[in-house]
Amino acid sequence: MDAISSAVALLKKHLSVEKVDSSLIEVPRDHALGDLAYPCFIHAKELKKAPQVIAKEGVEHITKAKSLSRTPFSKITAVGPYINFFVDSGKLAATLLSTIIKSSNPKSKALYGKGMIKRKVMVEYASPNTNKPLHLGHVRNISLGHSVSKLLDFQGMKVIQVNINNDRGVHICKSMLAYQKWGKNAQPDIKTDHFVGKFYVLFSDHAKDNPAFEEEAQDLLRKWEAGDKETIKVWKLMNAWAYNGFEETYAKLGVAFDKYYYESEIYKEGKKIVMDGLKKKIFYKNKDGAVVADIPGLDTKVLLRSDGTSVYITQDLYLATLKAKESRLDSSIYVVANEQNYHFQVLFKLLKILEYSWADKCHHLSYGMVYLPHGKMKSREGTVVDADDIIENMKDLARVEIRKRYHDLTEAEVDQRAMIIGLGALKFYLLKIDPNRDMHFNPEESISFEGETGPYVQYAHARICSVIRKWKEHAGKNAKLPLSADAALLREKQEETVTKLLSQFPDITKEAAELYRPSVLCRYLLDLSQAFNEFYHTCPVVAAHTEELRDARLLLCEAVRIVLHRGLYLLGIEAPEEM
Ligand code: ARG
Repeated sequence: MDAISSAVALLKKHLSVEKVDSSLIEVPRDHALGDLAYPCFIHAKELKKAPQVIAKEGVEHITKAKSLSRTPFSKITAVGPYINFFVDSGKLAATLLSTIIKSSNPKSKALYGKGMIKRKVMVEYASPNTNKPLHLGHVRNISLGHSVSKLLDFQGMKVIQVNINNDRGVHICKSMLAYQKWGKNAQPDIKTDHFVGKFYVLFSDHAKDNPAFEEEAQDLLRKWEAGDKETIKVWKLMNAWAYNGFEETYAKLGVAFDKYYYESEIYKEGKKIVMDGLKKKIFYKNKDGAVVADIPGLDTKVLLRSDGTSVYITQDLYLATLKAKESRLDSSIYVVANEQNYHFQVLFKLLKILEYSWADKCHHLSYGMVYLPHGKMKSREGTVVDADDIIENMKDLARVEIRKRYHDLTEAEVDQRAMIIGLGALKFYLLKIDPNRDMHFNPEESISFEGETGPYVQYAHARICSVIRKWKEHAGKNAKLPLSADAALLREKQEETVTKLLSQFPDITKEAAELYRPSVLCRYLLDLSQAFNEFYHTCPVVAAHTEELRDARLLLCEAVRIVLHRGLYLLGIEAPEEM
């Protein structure tokens, strides 16, 4: 527990008031008045006593109870209407480290930093179109959605992770048409979603010289809408290939969804909402018969085309109601690229115009483009930076790094580590940038063990594991970490820096969750890793001057390890014990 939480806990226990407001705690300018001060004015009415009396009696109460020795304070005094707390940094370290270590058991209810916010949120991410495989942009999307879900879960919330498959529409019909024309009923001979994507590219290539193909794709869409048997058959076949391939990629990235939505199942319902709005005169028909909405502050938006077919927003109208209805959500987050900022502005305004009570609970978590050093990824031309390719590429780069350091690993061991490090590098690089910003992904830079990278943090974790292993070799295999070590001995500057950073973990994770910004946590983990490395280079652990100091340092190492491990976990990244 940090000093503020400890002070609040003491006040709650000993002031006998309805509510202690932690935001009122001040840091006195004058050091002689302690490190924290709590003003007792606010309780004067409730307790019918002068603030000075409340402060005095409160302090008496606290100090009479034996509890002071178990707090991080060396002294607690009453000065006028204030209760002043003097922090004992050694004691603070001791309480902090023991809290972190005791709560390291994943089953522990009181995980260090875990919040208790009882809310239910839905996070929609990935959400591919089923005409082609996932690309690098999806990897940014998935990394963000996954990490934000974990961060919210860590705040105590119930998180439902969902994924919408945009599985119908003219773009899907294009790959279907190409398959019908040139596929010769072939079965996939490559990863199944790539097989589907191949036909989408084939279509684009042919359509360049033959615009009639575009018309044919539209025809196919009409046939699909009419439920034509043969069309539905190809559609089902190719979508199954797409899903099959997506699942493989999700599994590689370590994500799983609680629920899938399918556009094909909901787009018709969207039409009903639009027609209802038309009846209620919220929407109207324009000259050529399309149903449109005038949205205050935004342009006029087409909701149904004149031929009655739906547009992208039609399905989203219904999907939003479906999400709200199914789960009684406190908030609903859409992780979608910033190319769709306008779409979501319009969508959320429409939901308001339609007077859905939950319209304000929707949030678009928008993120920027990912460029490779040589320019924007393009999908139509078939020069996409494919998600599977980039994962393989990262794994290859990691293999090289591992082989540089180790010569006695089996192929399988190298492979397993390469996956952890390669993915760690990729995800961390994508997450450390503020989501709003466009970015360049530089694979070589991301894998470096020395830069501001995932492997740098993973390496700090592995290094601690190695320190602890080394100590165990000395102390005997069954030696337990010295949990009762005196952390008050940790007085070096580097030790205090590390301790201070450890105490910030709960605030950092809370901030990252509230802002939907895993980047906040990335920054913190880099700082903690760096502070740890500085400590490690200046303060000998296993070879410390005294046994007591060694034990205290081991404890610090273990606490850092736990926090790094948890932090990486919240980013969706594994923490290897060896690099
Ligand atoms: N499939 C869409 C695309 O790739 C993204 C869907 C986002 N989610 C939504 N509810 N509109 O552009």
